[in-house]
Amino acid sequence: MLFNSPLSPSKAHQLIQTLGLSPQQRVLDVGCGQGEFLLRLVEATGAWGLGIDLNQDAIQKAQLAAKTRTPGGSPEFRAADMQKEAWEDGTFDAALCIGSTHAFGIGDQAYPNALQAMSRLVKPSGLLLIGECYWKQPPPQEYLALLGEPSGISRTHGENVWLGQEHGLIPLYAATSNQDEWDHFEWSHISKLERQAAAHPNDPQWRKKLERGRAWRDGYLRWGRTTMGFGFYIFQKPAASE
Ligand SMILES: C[S@@+](CC[C@H](N)C(=O)[O-])C[C@H]1O[C@@H](n2cnc3c(N)ncnc32)[C@H](O)[C@@H]1O
Repeated sequence: MLFNSPLSPSKAHQLIQTLGLSPQQRVLDVGCGQGEFLLRLVEATGAWGLGIDLNQDAIQKAQLAAKTRTPGGSPEFRAADMQKEAWEDGTFDAALCIGSTHAFGIGDQAYPNALQAMSRLVKPSGLLLIGECYWKQPPPQEYLALLGEPSGISRTHGENVWLGQEHGLIPLYAATSNQDEWDHFEWSHISKLERQAAAHPNDPQWRKKLERGRAWRDGYLRWGRTTMGFGFYIFQKPAASE
């Protein structure tokens, strides 16, 4: 799976083009996973990138890919916890966070915290790209119980845009994951799990993981496809004089 989010290469390309970054501009990707989005952004624009993620395996894969794909030393990938990082205000020209706002806080606070922290980290006129879940319609209690509390999703697509505006940001662009992107994302996880579990037929831990994965799959089929959305939000921080 290229991205650990419901995102296709063509939508990633569209988002990168919309950001419109220039060579040498500085970009931070929080919760970058295996770094595919940042690698593509740097390949396409020549911007300087830093990707951080808690997951050491993901960061190692990102570093390996960067060695062959972007030999100039950018993007740099670092295993780090966003909660422990401290950069000066305005260090970056753009800050990205796709499917990772939980790096900024728990539950309902994750997205507003991300808006606040990321707008502080970018310069005046700097850009934010946030990938965040939203509800297409109110979720049934059974689905919420399956997701577990806090689900971290409490807004509609429009409310995700307007919250950025309430934080003093200018909404520049918004897109949503389509059904193909969602199906690819969910089924990639499920088929990987099915194959791994099949290779460990007598291992009770894998049996448990498989049970959980199949319950998740059924919840996706029953409720998720019609209920949960994923949006991509590009905001601009106002210029210094605004
Ligand atoms: C759903 S994945 C998204 C990965 C990537 N942005 C993508 O779209 O492929 C969420 C990522 O956030 C990372 N993460 C969670 N909490 C974090 C934190 N406090 N600091 C840095 N990364 C964090 C996880 O390790 C995970 O790789």
